[in-house]
Amino acid sequence: MKSPQALLLALALGAVTMAQTATPDAGPSPMVRTLLAQMSLEEKVGQMTQISLELVCKGYPMTQDPLEIDLPSLRRALLEYHVGSILNVGTSAHTLERWREIITTIQDVATKETRLGIPVIYGIDAVHGAGYTLGATLFPQHLGMAATWEPELVRKEAEITAYEIRACGIPWNFSPVLDIGRQPLWPRLWETFGEDPYLASVMARAYVAGLQGSDGRLDTHERAAACAKHYLGYSFPLTGKDRTPAWIPERMLREYFLPPFQAAVQTGVKTVMVNSSEINGIPVHASSFYLRDLLRGELGFQGVIVSDWADIRNLHERDRVASTPKEAVRMAVMAGVDMSMVPLDYSFYDLLLELVREGTVPEGRIDEAVGRILQLKADLGLFADPYPPKEASGRFASPDCREIALQAARESITLLKNSGKLLPLSSSAKVLVTGPTAHKRSCLNGGWTITWQGDREDLYPKDTPTILEAIVATAGRERVKYVPGVEVNREIDIKAAVKAARTADVAIVCLGEDPYCETPGNISDLTLPEPQLRLVASLAAAKVPVVVVLVEGRPRLITSIADKAAAIVMAYLPGPQGGQAIADVLFGRVNPSGKLPITYPRACNDLTLYDHKHSENANSFNRYDPLFPFGFGLSYTSFAYGDLTLDKETLGRGDSLTVSVTVENVGQRSGKEVVQLYLSDLYASVTPSVRRLKRFTKVDLWPGEKQTVHFTLHESDLGFIGMDNRLTVEPGQFAVRVGDLVRTFVLE
Ligand code: BGC
Repeated sequence: MKSPQALLLALALGAVTMAQTATPDAGPSPMVRTLLAQMSLEEKVGQMTQISLELVCKGYPMTQDPLEIDLPSLRRALLEYHVGSILNVGTSAHTLERWREIITTIQDVATKETRLGIPVIYGIDAVHGAGYTLGATLFPQHLGMAATWEPELVRKEAEITAYEIRACGIPWNFSPVLDIGRQPLWPRLWETFGEDPYLASVMARAYVAGLQGSDGRLDTHERAAACAKHYLGYSFPLTGKDRTPAWIPERMLREYFLPPFQAAVQTGVKTVMVNSSEINGIPVHASSFYLRDLLRGELGFQGVIVSDWADIRNLHERDRVASTPKEAVRMAVMAGVDMSMVPLDYSFYDLLLELVREGTVPEGRIDEAVGRILQLKADLGLFADPYPPKEASGRFASPDCREIALQAARESITLLKNSGKLLPLSSSAKVLVTGPTAHKRSCLNGGWTITWQGDREDLYPKDTPTILEAIVATAGRERVKYVPGVEVNREIDIKAAVKAARTADVAIVCLGEDPYCETPGNISDLTLPEPQLRLVASLAAAKVPVVVVLVEGRPRLITSIADKAAAIVMAYLPGPQGGQAIADVLFGRVNPSGKLPITYPRACNDLTLYDHKHSENANSFNRYDPLFPFGFGLSYTSFAYGDLTLDKETLGRGDSLTVSVTVENVGQRSGKEVVQLYLSDLYASVTPSVRRLKRFTKVDLWPGEKQTVHFTLHESDLGFIGMDNRLTVEPGQFAVRVGDLVRTFVLE
């Protein structure tokens, strides 16, 4: 052996083939323990440090495209500070080839020039596909994926994403977002799988399994480590503004916000990112209750806990629970954070080193964190091969992958209103296309696409159509007029749109939001900006039939125009295939099958959710009266439900219940229906919800076709978080509802 580095690499390779993955509860593998034993304190603390790519690029802090790595800065990071992880994109999306060069340069320095040759783990936000790689396969954002109610599409999305980031040499994806979208103002609502914990948990399992595979083997170029984020309670800020306080009683936290994280842990998720904000006055980054007791102790999570962006420093600078930056580092590390997304300096490294040297943070805690980080690298096969695959095969952004993304976009589109069966439009219809989202690719995609905010329209590849272009391709140029009328927040010329509409059979009005991400997306009013509402009102006043298409990341209020529009189509943020998918639905090439994964509110001060308590729907004053309820979505055909049966009327403890129902396509064309099973606990020691989603499945039926669907409920499905904050199952009567059919049973 020529060098310790070579020795370690050989050791690593041997260990990797013998025991790739740490066995449950076993702690780090022998290879990781051997490596750890040889590391200096500085090398260990470096492993816990994650920096952003721009810090090692030319021109920092004014990093520009085309981004170029500054070798002296990279060497400083990896040789002086022993940095273990790098994240993000620096500026804007790179080509696949550029990524491969970037990662190769980084791994060359890490593995050939550092004393121990430990590879860097690179992490990225590939939240709807590899959004920071030009030409990658991009899907609807999570909210749209949830609207498909099709976990298999989510699994395939994650599988493709894993492959495509790995083709770049990136093995770690900061996804899925498992926050529950129960605060519609929150600018990250579109990153969630919606308001229901069960639906989000099913999607969480599918996503983690798709990204990581189901056999525990991540040491291939087909798989990547998932990161369940943002643990816990991030999505429910009282003000609706990003990174502001949440007040969530523990029972509510466990009932609504914890389940998807639990599902991800049960599926073997490798990493968890911490909520940037606070719950009940306690920043989660400083809470050993949330990080140790709940996440590790109760849920049994064994992977790496990474901070969110600059959030250890925020304990001092923003949250003021630490009186110095050093105290902030002590708090977070002792609370259980293993890796700090510092990310733009080396303060974490310096301060943590001081803390260990002076004995304030025990070295054992460092070993614990570094053991997990090294194990993650080993599990991903990085010690054996830290580089991008020799060649990215033809599967990258292949037509097959795009077809799946198109299918997902099509299945996400949710038809909310269709008066007089205006839709589907005949391809001979003369249409006016108008509105701010009609001809913009950025609006279809939203944040985390090409750039953080996703708003660089000029950088979007033009190989997929905008809504306008897809409509033109469908209906023919001679039948389509385009007059934008308004921007998102400003009138351009509504009169011109109305004039153009007078000679059209129908106006397709594409409304919604410009792209945004995180805090810059904060709003103070959920109502859709007034110029957009005025555009619809003016067109309707001119007696032009209006089809509203909503391209938006949260349910912007449209109540004042909902009656004026003949048809309303919710598209969420459908990704690059969205233009095509929307046109396909409008002109009937696709029968819509999406269902709302959120409640669409009617009024800005009535944000009651579908699983509210009885008191919230008790009389004419307190009503669940949204514009469109959770789970709602129309089709061009009709479905009839019948024969709802339970295999038992009385259940003993430990029994399971089989629920059967027949669904028939009683309309004229084939279509998909999401069969949703809701359960109501009629009386309970903690006020029960009116109903809770417990099972669902999507069926595909020809006209006249009938299918019997069976669901199995287990005892735990009947439970709720009781007065002692534990899962409680109480005897009594329950009601099962599918469609309009209801049956009751008794648990003894
Ligand atoms: C976001 C995370 C993201 C991280 C890295 C943070 O600001 O909250 O969701 O993973 O940045 O980009």
